[in-house]
Amino acid sequence: MNTPTFAIAIMAAGKGTRLKSKRPKVLHEIGGKALLLHVIAAARQVVPEENIYVIVGHEAEKVKAAAAHTGVQFVLQAEQRGTGHAIQCVKAHFASNGLAAPEDLLVLSGDVPLITPELISGIRNFHLAEQAAMTILTAVPPDPTGYGRVLRKTPDSPEVTAIVEQKSLAAEQLSAPEINSGIYAFRTAALFAHLDLLKTDNPHGEYYLTDVAAMLVSDGARVVALSTANLQEVLGANTITEMMELDAALRLKTARKLMAQGVTIFRPETCTIDAEVTVEADTVIEPFVQLLGATRIGADCRIRSYSVIQDSKLEDGVLVRHGCVLDNASIGEGALLGPYAHLRPESEIGEGAHIGNFVETKNARIGKGSKANHLTYLGNAEIGSGVNIGAGVITCNYDGVHKHKTTIGDRVFVGSDSTLVAPVTLADGSYVAAASCITEDVPAGALALGRARQVTKEDWAGSRREKQAPRKS
Ligand code: UD1
Ligand code: CA
Repeated sequence: MNTPTFAIAIMAAGKGTRLKSKRPKVLHEIGGKALLLHVIAAARQVVPEENIYVIVGHEAEKVKAAAAHTGVQFVLQAEQRGTGHAIQCVKAHFASNGLAAPEDLLVLSGDVPLITPELISGIRNFHLAEQAAMTILTAVPPDPTGYGRVLRKTPDSPEVTAIVEQKSLAAEQLSAPEINSGIYAFRTAALFAHLDLLKTDNPHGEYYLTDVAAMLVSDGARVVALSTANLQEVLGANTITEMMELDAALRLKTARKLMAQGVTIFRPETCTIDAEVTVEADTVIEPFVQLLGATRIGADCRIRSYSVIQDSKLEDGVLVRHGCVLDNASIGEGALLGPYAHLRPESEIGEGAHIGNFVETKNARIGKGSKANHLTYLGNAEIGSGVNIGAGVITCNYDGVHKHKTTIGDRVFVGSDSTLVAPVTLADGSYVAAASCITEDVPAGALALGRARQVTKEDWAGSRREKQAPRKS
């Protein structure tokens, strides 16, 4: 059997009582991604996923479903009796599955999401160099309240005497500045030898993993602390407020990364940009823009204020004017959208096409250079190139039960305020007169008129005014 040198355990079984939310804490999102998935992503850069053990308990099935695609292992902690108990479950998992325990075990918290691979490798290397039984990653935040505190033998010594939880701090310890990040490296044998000795005689009545520190010290083992200056990377997300602070920090980091790649972002603190969005150089993003999910934006685009773009792909040189909503849309080079366009899933807008104000598209392919500039609904539509869709045109695609397709060829002109009752085809180069209701196919090059003929009554207005004039008395 192969003994891995390192494995990583991620504690993610807790409920997150302080969030006051139905959703398990580790599935709350920052930067558009669940806390746990941030931690797993960092861990996978340090050890392969088959050596990563995620401890699940509260809403275990939901948490597993959210992380299954990463290929990590899961360990069930059916009852959540504290962080020490979570690691007892890992020990039991190795034993009951006949797995060789790794020589060293890194422990991460599922609710400390901004941890980086560099910091995880840093603590591992420090732990090995110090030949420690336990290494604790620490930081000194402006306000340490709420965190466990790490007490060192002397202020300059790497050696630790104990970790004391907030509720157990003695009066003179309340100002102890160095916090336990909840991230540790252990010599696995030393850790496992002490786990079963943990007690629950503390204010929470839980098995604290943190108590292992003092136990190891009293056995003469070496326990050290590594303090990081990258405070944000080790902060926990225990309340919605803390989580939103981390969200803002992460989004600002994403914006800065994009700016370093040549993207201009005005007032980046007002923009909501998810962690996995990509944008190419010379694109300009105005204030109050949201770029979400798997959105990819090319070069030389401009995204004007108040647009929300989700899971969409924009080629180079696209102009998105104010207030557009894009969801799962793909936009060709040099296209022009908005203001106030709504592109719903499976909208494919061709190169140089114009989709103007108050135009809604859904499952619609619109060809190169075609224009729908005002007040239009295009659903289940296949539209060729060089087409002009007049103001107020509607594809009537839904009969109350089924959706039907509208097919429009190249260079078709659809007059304003026309309704196209699907299924219907307007062949290449055809014309539809304004205000037509089109229910039959229009052949190539034909003109279709589908409206009542106008009736004009000469001199009608004058006689009406006479009839309506008040009687003279
Ligand atoms: C813990 C540390 C504290 C540290 C802080 C850093 C302990 C006793 N305290 O406190 O010293 O400053 O993290 O963020 O460890 N979990 C389980 N099973 C359980 C209980 C918790 O998997 O039975 C998981 C939670 O889902 C969470 C992590 O462990 O991801 C930490 O638990 P939490 O209750 O948030 O601990 P803190 O009170 O923050
Ligand atoms: Ca926590």
